[in-house]
Formats: sequence, structure tokens, C-alpha cells
Amino acid sequence: MAQWTSAVGAHQLARLLRSQDPRDAELTATGRRLPAYRSLADGVRLLVLEGRIPVAARLPAERELAGALGVSRTTVAAAYEALRAEGFLESRRGSGSWTAVPAGNPLPTRGLEPLPPEAGGSVIDLGCAALPAPEPWLTRAVQGAMADLPLYAHTHGDYPAGLPVLRQALADRYTARGIPTMPEQIMVTTGAMGAVAAICKLCTGPGERVAVDSPSYANILQLMRDAGARLVPVALTERLGGWDIPAWRQVMRDAAPRMAYVVADFHNPTGTLATEDQRRRMVDAARAAGTLLVVDETMTELRLDDDPEPPRPVCAFDPAGSSVITVGSASKAFWAGMRIGWVRAAPDLIRSLVAARAYSDLGSPVLEQLAIASLLESGGWEEAVAIRRDEARRNRDAIVGALRRALPDWEFTVPHGGLTLWVRTGGLSGSRIAEAGERLGVRVPSGPRFGVDGAFEGYVRLPFTVGGAVAEEAADRLANAARLVAGGHTAGVETVRTLVA
Ligand SMILES: Cc1ncc(COP(=O)(O)O)c(C=O)c1O
Repeated sequence: MAQWTSAVGAHQLARLLRSQDPRDAELTATGRRLPAYRSLADGVRLLVLEGRIPVAARLPAERELAGALGVSRTTVAAAYEALRAEGFLESRRGSGSWTAVPAGNPLPTRGLEPLPPEAGGSVIDLGCAALPAPEPWLTRAVQGAMADLPLYAHTHGDYPAGLPVLRQALADRYTARGIPTMPEQIMVTTGAMGAVAAICKLCTGPGERVAVDSPSYANILQLMRDAGARLVPVALTERLGGWDIPAWRQVMRDAAPRMAYVVADFHNPTGTLATEDQRRRMVDAARAAGTLLVVDETMTELRLDDDPEPPRPVCAFDPAGSSVITVGSASKAFWAGMRIGWVRAAPDLIRSLVAARAYSDLGSPVLEQLAIASLLESGGWEEAVAIRRDEARRNRDAIVGALRRALPDWEFTVPHGGLTLWVRTGGLSGSRIAEAGERLGVRVPSGPRFGVDGAFEGYVRLPFTVGGAVAEEAADRLANAARLVAGGHTAGVETVRTLVA
């Protein structure tokens, strides 16, 4: 890493160090009291690995940090020296010191390999957080689309902004949610991925900074890296507490990102739900900084518990859609196989997005658009989503129960919605667990895939896609994988980078 891209103030770092869970210290301590410099170095190292301070963040000068922590400057100097020796800090005279991850720490990129078909029967694949099609609604939706198709057969079939009937139906849903919306404010896309790809094409360029939740959805992070964006991670507060608004304000002020990408509802991978107050303050901060806020609502409809009250959508605080671009998808609420997503924004922004999208993807398939429109118009959507929620809730409760039985020292906070559980693997490497799991017939994505620069090594993500005996078997295989890792019986080779969704 040649330079720093964000900065952590002395008081902010002192606050983060003091707020560390005392159990974290046990991960590093060996029973005897550690010298002060060692505790400080371990604390900073954990903050980097947990994604609570980003990689390439400038740390405060030794004297400032010593003052904020009430320790001697020698202690801070020795801690920085230890971090440098371990690869967690880089320094250059005149530029200060900034955080790093040691060479060899698994980075989240590389190619993806789908699960080999022959492995389908025996491997429990926990890579994709997506459920099978809800029948009979899929069949009914396609039948509805077939009935409407003759109306479109005489047209050329290219609708880069989306079929008018679907744009209208989607606009009506926002209006029903309390945010008046016209069809001109909607563009239909090829999944939420297609929506974010078009937004990146229009709004970012090589070297442009994009602030993201840390952790965040792996495929979107990769899409943004591919677009040349420089990702600036902003840690979520712990235990599903939502967004850390002071940290976001600081990043927007210091890094001046062109764009920020956030998941407010049942965030992937943590399941976090941002509060209404955080939403209001995030929109204010973005508007003040001139940062475009891209809000991914892919998981919004997967509300699994009645509490807490659902907060208003983020776009309720910018109904005109000039500061907030909302992305939606049928993939989680209905079925990922439809590949239908959408964008809600101001009409002029939508026009620019349609133009930006047209050169790589002329539009989404007419039949699938008609199927979603028919579902929305017939009320079948609500029925299908209700089935989805029941299934995801059952699976969530099954995987939570199975983990508590088989792996009692793995920690997680149970989210009120979404499709994923973000699990701390009891001080073991998530990458090694993924690697051992692969051999034992359970496929899990490791934490660093959801981080920007090698953070979250101590995590895996588990989806709410299996229940009953399969959830129990998955937990047993993961417990076996954990035993292998704890016993040092893993090869230490890089895990195959399988498809994650
Ligand atoms: C937050 C988030 N955004 C986007 C996607 C991808 O959505 P789509 O299938 O609509 O492209 C997912 C899928 O897991 C997701 O969780």
C-alpha cells in the first residue's frame, strides 16, 4: 500500500480501543499480563482485522495517541514498532503511519468457481443466500406473462428503461410505501447487480472513492473494484447497532467519496437494520458532502420478526431522488432466477442511467418483466413474499439452534430479517474453516470476502437456506471443520473462490 486513504483521530482510536469486547483480548492474551505496548498493538491489530478501522487508514502521531490514551509516548512507539514488524502498519517519513494487512492474509478477490454439479448431492452449499422458486407463484407469474406477451410481440422488444407496465407497477409500490413516485423515476435492470453496474458506470470512474459499509455484500464490492473504484470502508456498529453516523460523517468529510453504497435493511452479511434516525442523519450527511447515496433494498421485504417497527425507507428523506438512489430486486423477495431488479431516482438521473446502461445491456427480458408485473398486479407477490418469510424464518431458527448446539463458542447476533447470519468463529480463521469445510462437505464463504482489504478473518457467513436435519448436519460438519482447524490439521492453502450470492 503506497499511501493512506482515510484517517483515524487520536480520540476516535482511543474510543474504539476502550470499546473493545474484553473477550477479544482473550484471543491474544496467553493468561499472563501483557506489557502495555503489546496490549495496545493487539488492540489495533484486532480493530484492523475486524474491519473497525480500515486498511490504509492513517493512525494518529505517537504523541497525540499517547495523550488520548493516557500512556507514555514510548508505549505507543513500541506498539507501532510491533505492528510494523507484523505487517499491520506501514510508515513513511513525512507521511505518517497507516494500517495494513500482512502479505499473505487472504484478500477477498480472485476468480469464482460454481459448485461442480457432481458435488451437488453430497455438499451442503451455504454459499448463496437465495431460496428456491416459490411455487406455484413462479408458474402462475410466467403464465400471466405468456398471456400478455402477444401485446409486445409486434414491438422490437428493446426497453432499456424497462417495460412501461412494470415501471408503473414498481412506482405504485413506492407510492404505497409513502414515497410518491412516477414511472419516469424507475429503471428496470438485470437484477440489483445490473442496477449497481449502471450506477457505477455513470457515477464512478477509475480511482474514484466509493464509501461502503464494512463488511458489505461481496459481489457488489468486487463489481466496484472492477469499475476501478477505491473502496473506503466504514465499519457498522457492533451487535447489529446499525450505522456509525459520526464515522460516516468523518469519511464523507475526509475522503469526499463521490458515492456511498449502503444496505439499510437486513444488511448482507450481518442482517443489520439501520434505524430511522440513522437514515435521516445519513441522508443529511451525504447531502452536505455532495455524496450520492446508493441504497440497496434487495433484502427489504425479508422481514422475519414483527419487532422492531419497520423504519421508513431511506428515500423517504430524499423523495425527489437527487441525493439518494434506491436499488431494488426481485431476487430475494421472489426468485433470483428472474434476474429482475430496478433503480428509483430523479427522472433526469434515470435518463442518464438508461443511456449509461444501454451500451452494455440493452434491457431486461420482456417475459420476465411481464411475469413480475403480473405478480405485482395480481397480489401474487405478497403471497409469495409471505411464503418466503416463513421459510427464511424457519431456516434461521434451525441454523441458530444447530449452531448453538454444535458450536457453542461461535458468536452471532440473530437478525430480525434478511437471509444471513454473520458468525464469529471462536478465534479460529474463517478462511481455514472454509477450506476444511470444503473437504468435509459443507461450503461456506469466509469473512474476508465481505471485507475491503483482508478484514474479518475471524468470521464466516451462513445463509437461511437450509432447515431441519440439513441445518443440523451442516452445523456438525462445521464443528468437525473447526476441530481440524483448531488442531492445526489444515493445509493452509488458499480456498477455492466459489460463487457467493
Ligand atoms: C445486498 C444485495 N445486493 C444485491 C444482491 C444481488 O441481487 P440480484 O440477484 O438482484 O442481482 C444481493 C444478493 O445476495 C444482495 O444480498
